[in-house]
Amino acid sequence: MPEGGGTLETAARAKTGPKPMISVRHLRKVYRIGDEKVVALADINLEILKGQVVCIVGTSGSGKSTLLNQLAGLEKPTRGSVYIGKTNISRLSENQLAIFRQRFLGFVFQSYNLLPTMTALENVSLPMIFKGVSKSKRNKASMAMLAAVGLKKRAHHKPTQMSGGQQQRVGIARAFVSRPKVVFADEPTGNLDTRTTIDVMRMMVRFARRYQQTLIIVTHDPEIADYADRVITLIDGAITSDVTHTPIYDGTADADSLPPESALPEEPKLPEGPIPTEEEELPLPPDDEPLILPDDGDAPCAPPPAPAAAEEEKGELPI
Ligand SMILES: Nc1ncnc2c1ncn2[C@@H]1O[C@H](COP(=O)(O)OP(=O)(O)OP(=O)(O)O)[C@@H](O)[C@H]1O
Ligand SMILES: [Mg+2]
Repeated sequence: MPEGGGTLETAARAKTGPKPMISVRHLRKVYRIGDEKVVALADINLEILKGQVVCIVGTSGSGKSTLLNQLAGLEKPTRGSVYIGKTNISRLSENQLAIFRQRFLGFVFQSYNLLPTMTALENVSLPMIFKGVSKSKRNKASMAMLAAVGLKKRAHHKPTQMSGGQQQRVGIARAFVSRPKVVFADEPTGNLDTRTTIDVMRMMVRFARRYQQTLIIVTHDPEIADYADRVITLIDGAITSDVTHTPIYDGTADADSLPPESALPEEPKLPEGPIPTEEEELPLPPDDEPLILPDDGDAPCAPPPAPAAAEEEKGELPI
């Protein structure tokens, strides 16, 4: 099997292939708790292409979630940089990162993270509210996505009225609906049985193919990796293998059954150059109506904040 990310692949791509979506340079993440120092990521160099379906695998504690959080801008690196398109996300302020994630990234969580007081339709609509999509367009797009994941009849059900597999399908519809450039999923099938795991994997791959999105999945399950174009293995915070292969399910043939692009919000365009570092120069998009969250809706609707307990290695700035 050919090794991915090497010079040959880079040379071939220069002529015809897809562009890099994520570039990682000398990424290091160290957690320090008291006197103890944990090197969660040693010196990661990586390039992930547009439209690639990538699995990050490794044993517990190998650094998979840490790497995913770094790629998605959920945590700051101790050293090194992560580019998404032409933006060095390691350089963005927390506010800018929040906006960048809302506009360009999607997330699928192991525990679904749906808002409990909202219906499936409202949960799927949520990312579009932050993007200023009109209510009628939101409803149309959300219904189309719920139909695509086989949940049209459950559109007005709340999460507690659905099975785990159904909730995760709502989670997938929510992650993909606003056409993010990259969708990140940390153990998306961790709470699901084998049959539902297959359904969920096929669904995510189908969406990624249909809308040419990059999909990055963290898992400790080798069978999940069979769905990827590329499998990156971590051991003790270092990449020990990076392999491209033919996935067991391509998804392209079934992708035509998914909603046409016209049913969804316009695809967001990544910034052409580095984005301004002044927070006020990157305002939130306008909205057509105020967002009203439920009173007791304290479940996260956006990626969780970075863990507060860890203290980062001092004196090393991202480069
Ligand atoms: N917030 C934190 N504070 C301190 N150490 C951390 C923190 N997050 C992760 N670590 C440590 O970094 C290392 C990598 O953790 P990470 O969560 O990335 O592993 P993982 O591969 O995702 O494991 P799992 O399969 O169990 O989810 C571990 O040694 C872990 O203890
Ligand atoms: Mg993890």
